[in-house]
Amino acid sequence: MSGLKCVLVFVSLFFIINSVQSTEFVPVYMWSTSKANEKVPALHKISQDSFKDDLLERLKENPFVIVFAEQTLSPEDFAQRDQSGGIVFPNLSKLKKSSKVTYLPYVQNPLRALKHLDEEVTELSIGSLKESLEIPETNILIIDLNDAKDDEHRLDMLKRHDADISSIYAEILKKHDNVLVLYTGRHTSWVAPEGVVNSRKIRSLLAINSRTYFNTTYALIYYTNITVTPDKSVSTNKTVLDLTFTDTKTNDTILLTGEGSGNTVNFTFSQGTGGAIGYWQLTGLVANYSSSVHNLTSSISDIYAPYSPTSFSYHCGDQVFTDSANFELDITYFQVQPFFNGTGIVTRFSDAYDCVGFTSVPIWSGLFVSSILLLIMTFGLVMIMDIRTMDKFDDPKGKTITITTE
Ligand SMILES: *[C@@H]1O[C@H](CO)[C@@H](O)[C@H](O)[C@H]1NC(C)=O
Ligand SMILES: *[C@@H]1O[C@H](CO)[C@@H](O)[C@H](O)[C@H]1NC(C)=O
Ligand SMILES: *[C@@H]1O[C@H](CO)[C@@H](O)[C@H](O)[C@H]1NC(C)=O
Ligand SMILES: *[C@@H]1O[C@H](CO)[C@@H](O)[C@H](O)[C@H]1NC(C)=O
Ligand SMILES: *[C@@H]1O[C@H](CO)[C@@H](O)[C@H](O)[C@H]1NC(C)=O
Ligand SMILES: *[C@@H]1O[C@H](CO)[C@@H](O)[C@H](O)[C@H]1NC(C)=O
Ligand SMILES: *[C@@H]1O[C@H](CO)[C@@H](O)[C@H](O)[C@H]1NC(C)=O
Ligand SMILES: *[C@@H]1O[C@H](CO)[C@@H](O)[C@H](O)[C@H]1NC(C)=O
Ligand SMILES: *[C@@H]1O[C@H](CO)[C@@H](O)[C@H](O)[C@H]1NC(C)=O
Repeated sequence: MSGLKCVLVFVSLFFIINSVQSTEFVPVYMWSTSKANEKVPALHKISQDSFKDDLLERLKENPFVIVFAEQTLSPEDFAQRDQSGGIVFPNLSKLKKSSKVTYLPYVQNPLRALKHLDEEVTELSIGSLKESLEIPETNILIIDLNDAKDDEHRLDMLKRHDADISSIYAEILKKHDNVLVLYTGRHTSWVAPEGVVNSRKIRSLLAINSRTYFNTTYALIYYTNITVTPDKSVSTNKTVLDLTFTDTKTNDTILLTGEGSGNTVNFTFSQGTGGAIGYWQLTGLVANYSSSVHNLTSSISDIYAPYSPTSFSYHCGDQVFTDSANFELDITYFQVQPFFNGTGIVTRFSDAYDCVGFTSVPIWSGLFVSSILLLIMTFGLVMIMDIRTMDKFDDPKGKTITITTE
């Protein structure tokens, strides 16, 4: 029976792994010298196979394909701005004037699709290309942008790559007149709040809702809407707050203040003491709405995450804060992180602690379905094993049964 149990456990593990499997989607920014009409896929997320079909279509004209592969890239990178409010990819976005640019925010394994095209593929690192300045004769050239420096900010690296790409492109144009260029990444760099992906918010390049990121040094906040319900007993109407956030740091606490139209929302973050050393937590949330002050607490769970040795942010799809009366503050697609050792403008969240625990709905349904299958199979096998073979047979040498009849 124990061998059987092993088999059963493996079968159920197989189902569980299948049901929680995940894939990575990275953005692809591509343009070509070709003037042909291009079909832009209508889908938001593009699978590896349909991306491959799209490429095959483009390869009919036999272009020279050059791919710039960032180690990590996400749609959020295209939405970022530097300290002076400038965009990260000035040269790439200039191309929109001269060429037909296609931007696909979520493509599944674009580099793997390229390698499965049955074309000659050469991979080079940007360092070796810069040394030799020789562009190899090949159908598809993949250039690895793997020259990140330890002390360099990500934005500066992306800007440097932006300039490199446009100078290499100018170089290639001298030799080839039919060129297809792709800028993409191997992995995704940012865990986007689910809703942002689903709502197709980041639809086009460099089009962002500037209200949701702020020029702050010690704390980063992201949300799509902050709404208040002044008195639930009177009406459940929600008013959207339009806030601008600033932050200050005093010894051990960080104060993140949102202000707009005479209303303020103050978040106070502290470093954990006692048993919670290494954790940051939201120790106070005070809203001053229509000149009345409300001390708010989260109605879901306490807001905290580790910051040392690894930093985490906190994320919640629908965060609700209430006070002792009927005042309510809702934040949708809320993500927040204080940086106690912050030194410059912060632009990126760390991985998130989510207000929904690890066992989310899809995981539960995977486990549930697997356990039903397991039960049915166990029942069937036990039944089969209960079928007994005969243990008494007719003895061929013995006396045959004789029935005497008179
Ligand atoms: C961001 O803050 C820095 C430092 O406070 C300031 O120099 C810079 O001009 C600000 N940028 C924007 C776009 O507000
Ligand atoms: C990239 O853009 C910047 C700013 O617009 C410009 O100064 C620089 O010369 C451009 N680089 C190339 C290689 O075109
Ligand atoms: C935010 O609030 C505005 C105004 O009520 C609404 O139109 C918009 O759909 C809301 N956005 C989200 C993501 O809920
Ligand atoms: C709530 O909204 C409804 C519909 O927009 C409006 O008719 C009603 O007057 C509002 N109630 C309050 C208390 O503002
Ligand atoms: C911050 O620390 C300094 C020196 O350690 C102390 O004098 C000051 O009172 C502290 N401020 C607050 C708000 O705790
Ligand atoms: C929020 O913090 C600011 C200082 O940044 C302060 O002036 C304001 O009174 C605070 N608001 C509330 C409601 O505590
Ligand atoms: C709340 O806001 C009102 C009006 O903006 C202001 O007069 C009052 O001082 C604020 N209260 C606090 C505690 O900040
Ligand atoms: C909010 O909390 C602060 C400190 O905990 C307290 O001084 C203040 O009176 C409270 N305000 C209200 C409206 O409960
Ligand atoms: C922040 O700085 C303090 C003192 O310099 C250090 O003890 C702590 O480990 C640092 N925290 C992080 C997350 O780097």
